[in-house]
Amino acid sequence: FFFRERVKIIQILILFLCVHFSNFDRKMYHYGTFPEGFSWGISSSAYQIEGGWNADGKGPSIWDTFTQTTDTIPDKANGNVACESYNRLNEDLYMLRALRVKSYRFSLSWSRIFPDGTRKSLNQKGVDYYNRLIDGLIAYNIEPIVTIYHWDLPEALQKVYDWDKAEMIDIFNDYCDFCFATFGDRVKFWITINQPQTIGWSGYGLGNMPPNVKDPGYRPYIVAHNLIKAHAKAYHTYDDKYRQSQGGLISIALNADWAEPKDVSIRREVVAADRAMQFQLGWFAHPIFKNGDYPDALKWQVGNKSEIQGFPQSRLPSFTEEEKNFIKGTADVFCVNHYTTKIVSHITARLSPESYEYDWDFKEEEENDSPTTAIPNQKVVAWGLRRLLNWIKEEYGDPEIYITENGVATEAQTTWDDSDRVFFYKAYIDEALKAYELDGVTVKGYIATSLMDSFEWLNGYKVGFGLHHVDFSNPNRSRTPKYSAHFYYNIIKDNGFPFVLYFGQKVPFWSHLTRAPSSTCLLCPPHGLWQTTNGTSYGFLLTMAFFLPLFHKGQLCAVHD
Ligand code: BGC
Repeated sequence: FFFRERVKIIQILILFLCVHFSNFDRKMYHYGTFPEGFSWGISSSAYQIEGGWNADGKGPSIWDTFTQTTDTIPDKANGNVACESYNRLNEDLYMLRALRVKSYRFSLSWSRIFPDGTRKSLNQKGVDYYNRLIDGLIAYNIEPIVTIYHWDLPEALQKVYDWDKAEMIDIFNDYCDFCFATFGDRVKFWITINQPQTIGWSGYGLGNMPPNVKDPGYRPYIVAHNLIKAHAKAYHTYDDKYRQSQGGLISIALNADWAEPKDVSIRREVVAADRAMQFQLGWFAHPIFKNGDYPDALKWQVGNKSEIQGFPQSRLPSFTEEEKNFIKGTADVFCVNHYTTKIVSHITARLSPESYEYDWDFKEEEENDSPTTAIPNQKVVAWGLRRLLNWIKEEYGDPEIYITENGVATEAQTTWDDSDRVFFYKAYIDEALKAYELDGVTVKGYIATSLMDSFEWLNGYKVGFGLHHVDFSNPNRSRTPKYSAHFYYNIIKDNGFPFVLYFGQKVPFWSHLTRAPSSTCLLCPPHGLWQTTNGTSYGFLLTMAFFLPLFHKGQLCAVHD
């Protein structure tokens, strides 16, 4: 055993050292493009945008109940109307078309399709809405990437079963089965569950999200156990009944911050950072992508703590051999949602009360050198994405990776000038490009969050992640592209940040010379110049092509961070 432990620790050290020393120059901007056919997308989710909370027979979800009865969300906001996407489908399709995205990731509202959560309550009008959306996307050549369950459990199911009961596994499976059968002729990319870690911890541990259960030491583990089994069962249903005729792929979207050791030269800190990765991402990814079982770090930590706390067995449930075989390998691609990076160091946490959070034995701090955002604990630490992608590659055997969410919050009053967001995308997408081009990580797609400002869960409408602004005071919920929408359009058009040749000089393509807020480079264009319809100001480009070699001796001001 000690030998195995030591080997594991050495592996972790090597992994972090590789991630740290393999040509990681954080400051250099990298020019290049993604592979052909790269899936550029944008995301939303049902409760955040649809509104129509009780329209045409829709049943309530736990988010309807929670937002309508709580005081904890700023301005007592809710998703009753939100962006009104239920009635403004054409406007959403228009935005997607204008952006020229290749894919749109959206979620299905379970209680719009099955108002009481089960097939016997089928609501055809809800199904029709999603058919119109899917058909609209296909007509414009935009691939639908469909999340089957993005947190909005039907209230009727919550009342009777809840995710802490194993009965939910079959109920979820039947809902998925219906979705595959109904939409699977056109939907070729399924995501069963969005961020099960958030469901388990925020919903059943912290209790700040519905169903607001505060049971930090037990319920998150039980709920996660059921969510993993539910995902695996849905995967097998797709595999057994639909894959052959429909030919799609299916996965689960897992959230992961990057955990950077506070001091990479101290073994204990490196191991603590790896533990942080395992507790958040490995909790789900290890069983699904590795061997059907939880990571050693979880088994060891929770098992030890439970024993010291006097429990007859670990608070972390275990899988039978049969279950492990059933769970292992139940995702065709790796889908990761990423927002920020934390600095992690080892601590010995308290034993009481029992909690997932104290089981960790590490503490997290913010990365102090990085810009802050409208959500203070989500700093802009772009290099963390490259490390995360490398970690996934090493840990899970080089899977195909889709970044299924990545985005930044700005204050709700930000209308069009969201240059902070432009900076965010410029920096984060470039780190994904470095991972792909320099490190050989198989990055297959990138999905920006989000299509438009919408109901941001516990933040209500106080912040927005949208590339489009939505005027929530206007009954028409008018949508306006922000600066970042233009910027993202250009990245998609160029498939990254390509070089072009001018007079034998390699220069970055003009449309990407937008300035980050802190840039002091006098040769860079002011905001807006690149915003011509085709993304390029040719007159200015030619002038600069002439002057740049003179002033810059061919060294273009490529770094704007
Ligand atoms: C959720 C998204 C949400 C984003 C920003 C993510 O964890 O999956 O639905 O828009 O956070 O709040």
